[in-house]
Amino acid sequence: MLSRRETLLTALKAACGLSVSAASPLGTLLATPAAAQAALRPPSQWLFPFGAALRDGPLADEPDYRAAIVRHCRQVVGEGGLKWFDLRPSRDRFVFDQADMQLAFATENGMELRGHTLVWYGAMPDWTKTIASAAEAERELVRHIETVVGRYRGRIKSWDVINEPIPDDPSSRSDIRPSIWQQRLGESHIALALRTAARADPEAKLVINEFDIEFVGDRFRHKRDALLRLVRDLKLRNVPLHAVGLQGHLRGDLAIDMEGLSAFVSEMRSLGLEVLVTELDVVDDKLPGRPELRDMLVAARAYDFLRAIHAAARPAAVLTWGITDKYTWVPIWFKRSDGLANRPLPLDDGYRPKPLMRVLEHFGQGSR
Ligand code: XIL
Repeated sequence: MLSRRETLLTALKAACGLSVSAASPLGTLLATPAAAQAALRPPSQWLFPFGAALRDGPLADEPDYRAAIVRHCRQVVGEGGLKWFDLRPSRDRFVFDQADMQLAFATENGMELRGHTLVWYGAMPDWTKTIASAAEAERELVRHIETVVGRYRGRIKSWDVINEPIPDDPSSRSDIRPSIWQQRLGESHIALALRTAARADPEAKLVINEFDIEFVGDRFRHKRDALLRLVRDLKLRNVPLHAVGLQGHLRGDLAIDMEGLSAFVSEMRSLGLEVLVTELDVVDDKLPGRPELRDMLVAARAYDFLRAIHAAARPAAVLTWGITDKYTWVPIWFKRSDGLANRPLPLDDGYRPKPLMRVLEHFGQGSR
């Protein structure tokens, strides 16, 4: 009779073309009961700081949620709070309540709050559509960054200055995603934002954050190439930029381009940049329903992603986009057609660790 471990490994092989041999570290990791895994280091001593995105509702109302964040995280980032939509209800108002509350929570519990985000096409309040000229765009962008980064100077030490600059399917290496800033200022808005952020807080780590650069396929290779072109160009011109954030919204149904991703990370390191994982989760809408198998497939995908990164460099931080399946953005875009709840995150909806948490632990220990 097949052992439980062999059955699972066979299922993993059959599903989505993941090849996991019983002898591989992932095979052992997934087949060992959680309780039997002696985690050598607690999360506070993992080799990279681990963290998660915060949602304000449960943070205010649910002790279990707060406890899970405090137990596992050294860093946090607001799912919202520092986006234009939240900070800027009108042209002349800045509303910092949400971000202040998140920063207070982080500080009280010995965690760093990351800043997300200063330049993004998404989550823009309607009034920004009336920005009519290049001069006006420059004025608004500079004022926003000076005010927000200046307010948190020395307290928010890492900023996603630029979020998602590359289009989904770039037509060339120099293609930049449309936004009000791109429309009014062209690509120069990127250097302007980075320079302004550096002036407002010279110590802050400035990050360009991007998604969909890790999978096998032409579209994803083109995205990597376009991001590489942008980053090289900025470094060449001495624009302040310290790290690239790989969001890591992985897809259960898409294989990781192991060589392509490792090469990309190496390239970033050779340009003197750190690499962070900023928004890890595994979109599971196309995976089989059975939760036990689904959780394994999710973990296996994240394992490949983290292994390819680690093959080139240790990430400067790893953050997941939420901590529990109870609160995740995934169903907004990727609801399952069978009506089952998505399971993209390290803890289940009862705050129990899933195989994905064991994968994070594994890399946190320094294992490959
Ligand atoms: C998402 C949040 O999780 C949602 O709560 C919100 O409604 C929309 O934005 N990439 C990003 C994040 O950079 O800001 C997005 O967050 C998820 C995709």
